Amino acid sequence: MRLQGKAAIVTGSGSGIGKATAELFVKEGARVLTVDLPGKDTGLEIDIAADGAPKTIVETAFKQFGRLDIVVNNAGIGSNQLAEEVEREAWDRVLAVNLTAPFLICQAAIPHLRDSGAGRIINVASVMAEGTDYGLSAYCASKAGVAGFTRTLALELGKWKITANYLLPGAIRTGMTTPLWDARPDVADIWAKKSVLRRLGEPEDLAKAALFLASDDGAFVTGHGLNVDGGLMLRV
Ligand SMILES: NC(=O)c1ccc[n+]([C@@H]2O[C@H](COP(=O)([O-])OP(=O)(O)OC[C@H]3O[C@@H](n4cnc5c(N)ncnc54)[C@H](O)[C@@H]3O)[C@@H](O)[C@H]2O)c1
Repeated sequence: MRLQGKAAIVTGSGSGIGKATAELFVKEGARVLTVDLPGKDTGLEIDIAADGAPKTIVETAFKQFGRLDIVVNNAGIGSNQLAEEVEREAWDRVLAVNLTAPFLICQAAIPHLRDSGAGRIINVASVMAEGTDYGLSAYCASKAGVAGFTRTLALELGKWKITANYLLPGAIRTGMTTPLWDARPDVADIWAKKSVLRRLGEPEDLAKAALFLASDDGAFVTGHGLNVDGGLMLRV
């Protein structure tokens, strides 16, 4: 039980990486506030980008558990418009969900993480924080932003023994990718072959990395971006 007595928030936990992470954390003894959009059957159903949502999320967790030790900002959406076509509304939405909301959730959580004495922030970025592909300008900007602000949080919050790290998932089989890959198995195959381990990632691959960073085992790791991509980024 590596998270016995800990209280956590996991956003986007109705599906994919967030679901696997929340389930593993519970298995390891944590109490977890699961957060996702309405209809996703989680503890708190809310749009994280709505006005006031970050505060509501943190307050709900604190009210329920009386403490808060771990925040996993995982909820996210993709983008798929070429730069010359991307609409302002679509750009704003990707940045609001993937970048601004996670930052505001971290900000609202800081006082509780400080009181925890071993606070943990784990933000789910993407290999696209460093790489790119067609149609991903908004997505790449948002994920590079997550990496940037997480490093700054690590710097500023270290004095309270709060660690802040981010994960860079590669090509993972989740709600975000499965519809495309079911329709285009050839695309799934290309991504699998790009990984030096010759396979797609599973949500559990990310959950295990998040558990390491959330547990005592990760106590001396901060400001770090951890690739969980089967070596995808080794190929240029
Ligand atoms: N799947 C991949 O290959 C991959 C690769 C790199 C990074 N990621 C990142 O991993 C994270 C998790 O994605 P996933 O792959 O598990 O996809 P997913 O679609 O299975 O899960 C994402 C969850 O976030 C929720 N969500 C989206 N917008 C929300 C909002 N405004 N408020 C509340 N919840 C919201 C969705 O409803 C969904 O349940 C995302 O940040 C994504 O960018 C995924």
